[in-house]
Amino acid sequence: MPKINSQNISMITCTAPVNIAVIKYWGKRDEGLILPVNSSLSVTLHQDQLKTTTTVACSRDFQEDRIWLNGKEEDINQPRLQSCLREIRRLARKRRSDGDPSTENSLSHRVHVCSVNNFPTAAGLASSAAGYACLVYSLSRLFGVEGDLSLVARQGSGSACRSIYGGFVQWKMGERQDGKDSLAEQVETESHWPELRVLVLVVSAERKPVASTSGMQTSVETSRLLKLRADSVVPGRMEEMISAIQRRNFADFGELTMKDSNQFHAICLDTYPPIFYLNDISRKVISLVHRYNQHYQETRVAYTFDAGPNAVIYTLQDYVHEFVEVVQHFFPPECNGGEFVKGLPIGRVSLSEDLIRAIGVETAPEGISYIISTKVGPGPCMVEDPNLHLLGPDGLPKKST
Ligand code: DP6
Repeated sequence: MPKINSQNISMITCTAPVNIAVIKYWGKRDEGLILPVNSSLSVTLHQDQLKTTTTVACSRDFQEDRIWLNGKEEDINQPRLQSCLREIRRLARKRRSDGDPSTENSLSHRVHVCSVNNFPTAAGLASSAAGYACLVYSLSRLFGVEGDLSLVARQGSGSACRSIYGGFVQWKMGERQDGKDSLAEQVETESHWPELRVLVLVVSAERKPVASTSGMQTSVETSRLLKLRADSVVPGRMEEMISAIQRRNFADFGELTMKDSNQFHAICLDTYPPIFYLNDISRKVISLVHRYNQHYQETRVAYTFDAGPNAVIYTLQDYVHEFVEVVQHFFPPECNGGEFVKGLPIGRVSLSEDLIRAIGVETAPEGISYIISTKVGPGPCMVEDPNLHLLGPDGLPKKST
């Protein structure tokens, strides 16, 4: 091993958030550039509960690009990682040739990347969005790149382009073949709707579902419903969703969110062979939400599901405590209370007999492993404290990562 001189290393650490779509992205028109068949819209979740942390370093002493994910060295030659590295280096080169000398980190230097999530991969939350957003954001800081980072993150994983911003974010599908207009834009900031709350219901799953990349590929090839959705449903829904968010109208927001999740899963069923992401527990959550809303004659809670059985619940501050109590009642955890709810604190309340009777679904003990309670949050941030770097002065992962 050649000697690494710590004087020659530049290092940056950043964090990036998870996002959960309320208008789903499903299907590409270009696999290489990752261009979608429809626009989508998501809510950025708060990094206090869910985030990726990434340290990037470059040095003239590094022999090759290397990456460690959640403590394990991975292959840096994966095409999507290579796309992000190539694009960032291209943007940095362009900036320098435009005469901006703001960073002197040489583009010929190799990089080391080390990344960890603060949530278990087993939670089944798509970590690729936060992961690629964090990689791209950190590299942009290391090489002094400005400009639209969502275009770069998109080439790592489609949904990652939305994690470049906080608050409420749309990914405009764009029309151009080179993808230059397929980018994310913030619709509203994270402080726009402070009452909005998010619960991730982590469902115990027996097996690993079909990955979204290959799932959506089969859907594009076989589902006519996908084409119908892309051409004639999503454009109108994007406008309605943006309006609901701007008006902070939960009933409209929640109803559209549920309908769009259901349409995405209908496309999965219309795919041949069909793809099943929801399981019995997911379906029980769907019934429970509808019965809860029905009881109050109002949409107070909404569900959405991605490429797996976990439910993400959107609700408002006023209802979150009662709804969590309802979930605990119908999905009694192994040891009641305690660590069942992680994240933002939830108070215990007593449920009326009326409400329990009105919901009336069969109980499913331990159907939900735990709940992550969170809210809307900001976009990627730089970590100032050098003690928090994940790479040591030798450019290798510190022992604890
Ligand atoms: C169901 O962004 O993971 O979560 O672009 O192939 O990496 P690739 O797919 P990915 O797909 C996410 C699909 C989804 C819906 C969404 O987030 O909009």
